[in-house]
Amino acid sequence: MGIVGCGNISAQYLRTLTSADETSVVAVADLDADKAAHAAATYGARAFSVDEIFGVDEIEWILNLTTPAAHEDVSLAAIGQGLSVYNEKPLCATVAAAQRVLEAAHAAGVAVGSAPDTVLGTGLQTARATLASGAIGRPVFATATMAVPGHELWHPAPDFYYAPGGGPLLDMGPYYLTALVTLLGPVAAVYGAASRTRDERIISSGPRKGERIGVAVDSHITAICEHASGALTTLIMSFDAAASQAARIEVHGEEGSMAVPDPNEFHGAVQVHSVGGTWEMVTPSAGYTGAGRGLGLIDIARSADRRTGRASAELGFHVLDVMSSILRSADDGQRRMVSSTCTVPDPVPLTELSYARTGGAGQRA
Ligand SMILES: NC(=O)c1ccc[n+]([C@@H]2O[C@H](COP(=O)([O-])OP(=O)(O)OC[C@H]3O[C@@H](n4cnc5c(N)ncnc54)[C@H](O)[C@@H]3O)[C@@H](O)[C@H]2O)c1
Repeated sequence: MGIVGCGNISAQYLRTLTSADETSVVAVADLDADKAAHAAATYGARAFSVDEIFGVDEIEWILNLTTPAAHEDVSLAAIGQGLSVYNEKPLCATVAAAQRVLEAAHAAGVAVGSAPDTVLGTGLQTARATLASGAIGRPVFATATMAVPGHELWHPAPDFYYAPGGGPLLDMGPYYLTALVTLLGPVAAVYGAASRTRDERIISSGPRKGERIGVAVDSHITAICEHASGALTTLIMSFDAAASQAARIEVHGEEGSMAVPDPNEFHGAVQVHSVGGTWEMVTPSAGYTGAGRGLGLIDIARSADRRTGRASAELGFHVLDVMSSILRSADDGQRRMVSSTCTVPDPVPLTELSYARTGGAGQRA
């Protein structure tokens, strides 16, 4: 594959994808040629300009690690050269942009995949297996909370988090909603509400430390998601909290409750609590062990046709559609039906990856 976008997150992908047996990274590109040159030198790839990379002979896939506003253009350029594309989340900045990408891919006969792939690790997959075992009975409701002060605290170029296509829902919602759709099935309708606390944020790290950036999106979003299964999720995605001790995700069933680990990580403990019982740890029983970002592409490479993995565009599109419906509901105060749906990808049996055995990739997301 070739990678377009060699910014903050790219090193995690490069570590995984250059260590795995199933994948290799032959080329990298970035609008900033220095970043591409650095990534190429560190990981044994070749650096190209953004125009050149789509024409490199050995490439079958483009891994698109650009900021959300560029996801559409980079995807369309790759698809235009007959390449399959795997996008960081969100799939695109808007539903309309994602539709254009999926239509172009369909017409060109190429595949599209989408982050997040954390849901394929042992944390979420063990939670899924626990639900399927009947340990908490029929799921009735879930809570999902991501409440932090804002990514300007640690990201050296956080502008895109406060531009259209950013905000806490579009940025972090994909992890939570992909997990919730995996556990409880597709979302049929939503109610949303949103607020914006500040018009400016201050960058806290890197060469631009102290610089003020504008806020063009809401920074606190709360929603109710009605899953087609009948389960109800209460969702909070916020860049307006100093700190939070709330559980990341809890699922409550007719016969018990389940604490689900952070969906932004591949691993973590699942706990269950029966009515009148106590919290008990669940032994990991499903998912890829030792995984890092890029797992979704390894999963694709391991599939029978090497193009239909679990980190699918269908799931990524539905999650984007749910988020967009929440934002529209927050705008007009109306309950919104979600027009898309998706097939929940097959569960992942407990699987040790070859590169994990040799300690190749990072354990944390
Ligand atoms: N930083 C994280 O911790 C993190 C974690 C998970 C996912 N993500 C996602 O990864 C993506 C990138 O995030 P990041 O933090 O690495 O951002 P970043 O700003 O650090 O890096 C993005 C890179 O893409 C390049 N770029 C932008 N437009 C381009 C274009 N049209 N063609 C070629 N290169 C282009 C930029 O020059 C930059 O180097 C986003 O979708 C984000 O949501 C980030």
